[in-house]
Amino acid sequence: MQGSRRKIGILTGGGDCPGLNAAIRAIAKTAILNYNMEVIGVKDGFLGLIENRFMSVSYEDVSGILTLGGTILGASNKANPFRHPDFKGRFKDVSNAAIENYRAMGLGGLVCIGGDGTLNIAYKLYKKGVRLVGVPKTIDCDLKQTETTIGFDSALVTAAQAIDKLHTTAQSHHRVMVIEVMGRYAGWLALYSGLAGGGDIILLPEIPYNIKKVCEVVLKRNEKGRKFSIVVVSEGARPKNGKMVVKKIIKDSTDPVRLGGVGDKVARDIERITGLETRVTVLGHLQRGGEPTPFDRILATRLGTEACGLVAKRDFGKMVSLKGNCIITVGLKKAVGDIRRVNLKDPIIKTALSVGTSFGI
Ligand code: F6P
Repeated sequence: MQGSRRKIGILTGGGDCPGLNAAIRAIAKTAILNYNMEVIGVKDGFLGLIENRFMSVSYEDVSGILTLGGTILGASNKANPFRHPDFKGRFKDVSNAAIENYRAMGLGGLVCIGGDGTLNIAYKLYKKGVRLVGVPKTIDCDLKQTETTIGFDSALVTAAQAIDKLHTTAQSHHRVMVIEVMGRYAGWLALYSGLAGGGDIILLPEIPYNIKKVCEVVLKRNEKGRKFSIVVVSEGARPKNGKMVVKKIIKDSTDPVRLGGVGDKVARDIERITGLETRVTVLGHLQRGGEPTPFDRILATRLGTEACGLVAKRDFGKMVSLKGNCIITVGLKKAVGDIRRVNLKDPIIKTALSVGTSFGI
């Protein structure tokens, strides 16, 4: 009977990334095939919940989207029901109205796919009675309580391939090549792509750099006949006693700060101090685009099916997560709040140091 089917909602919040559609597909297919549920998509993240914009998602809608980048539901990295601007730009708490929309739609559970910002909002809505579960995604890989997030591996491949390409042109022209990658306040993407691409110097938000040390490494390589250097810079990197470089402030965003520009600063400083020709590449949103890697497709499928299972069991207030190659569930409360940053005691730092990588200190 059509009317009595349980409804499951899906929402993709925050910045998009490869693998979101794979997760939507996994949730929807599991819901339809295993639980005979009706699937409802919330359009444009929490904005759809605030503005009462939903779409019905059929089996056909999710067929063939496994490899597709972006999200068929749309996303917003600004919308927040607890802080929503009115037409005069004044911020108001419209969470009760958003919850009313969720109830009126008759959703028996909502799966929120997002990063720290989205899952923080999800947790607040859960505390107000919304039956929901979280799925971790972000290219920044900075969520606590999960070993990785949907989107990270795909962004890593994009960044590593870009470093590979810079390597050959750096070699030909005997240049220093600086590449700025995303990651916000966590250096995971820079660290992993730098390691994968054989970066000579990797600058992370967690390890404030000394530009003189950076230049020493570049000059030493030059003396030894290695006439080029690759410097991978996380957008959140900053010099010792210096500040992160802010590109713009977006007032109505959950985190208004947009980082960007440190790569240019590092390149200018290297050229000035060493006299060596230096170029900068800012990878930007390319890291969020394109098709997901097989790893992300599988991760999204595993997390998505598990999240749907939690809704079916009415086990709300949880986030699905990856631990030791197993999918587990953790309380949303534990999963949000602060972020997971690179720990200097992480064995990967030792590994990088062992192969001669410099962190500019
Ligand atoms: O959180 C994902 C992310 O891509 C960050 O790495 C980056 O700092 C930020 O989002 C960029 O946001 P926007 O899409 O608003 O420019």
